[in-house]
Amino acid sequence: MTRAGGSGAVDARESMDRMYRLQRHFYDLTRKYYLFGRDGLIERLDARPGETVLEVGCGTARNLIKMARRYPEARFFGLDASDEMLKTAESAVARAGLRGRLPLAQAFAQTFTPATFALDQPFDRIVFSYTLSIIPGPMEALDNALSQLRSGGTLHVVDFGDAAALPGWFQGMLAWWLDKFHIAHRPEVGAWFERQAAEGHGRLETRTIGGRYAEFFTLVKT
Ligand SMILES: C[S@@+](CC[C@H](N)C(=O)[O-])C[C@H]1O[C@@H](n2cnc3c(N)ncnc32)[C@H](O)[C@@H]1O
Repeated sequence: MTRAGGSGAVDARESMDRMYRLQRHFYDLTRKYYLFGRDGLIERLDARPGETVLEVGCGTARNLIKMARRYPEARFFGLDASDEMLKTAESAVARAGLRGRLPLAQAFAQTFTPATFALDQPFDRIVFSYTLSIIPGPMEALDNALSQLRSGGTLHVVDFGDAAALPGWFQGMLAWWLDKFHIAHRPEVGAWFERQAAEGHGRLETRTIGGRYAEFFTLVKT
């Protein structure tokens, strides 16, 4: 596993390490009850043989393991800011028997490049699953991801929506709960995707599930 350096980077890494030092041990068990849509994203990923697919903020590698099994001929990579999360990810990848197939790196959404994984070509697909709602600076993360993607490559996002079609009391409870983890629906993410499409940088598909509980963005870079 490689590691990223830099000054602000150290703060970001330490803050995520603090959050996940304990949580990583029961993360997958608890998150399956509220990180909806992750399997839907994997099902629609449609990764082709030989394609390179990066998950940014891969956490415990839960998605990476499912993706690598679902698309055995594609090449998967994972990065995360938190060394603590990566410890859990590495154990999970080893348990799944995928150690050689799933390179992991400590790196930041805002600054990674293909060179983070010793690649010399841009990625074919980049995935953000419930990561943009926790990252300080999601716009920088999206700008960086788009520039590390090849033309014709795809950016895939699933994250919390605005829950607007759900009852008001539920919206309040959800926002209160997410705030405990410094997570929030980020309307600027949707605005960023609309802007890219409007400016001709990509072809956009959006959808929501569960009364707008979760939202998906898929942008094919032009
Ligand atoms: C809510 S978890 C989602 C994990 C996984 N993608 C999933 O769907 O289960 C968010 C992850 O983003 C990582 N993260 C937060 N800020 C980051 C950054 N600036 N760069 C890379 N990863 C970051 C956290 O350490 C954490 O593992």
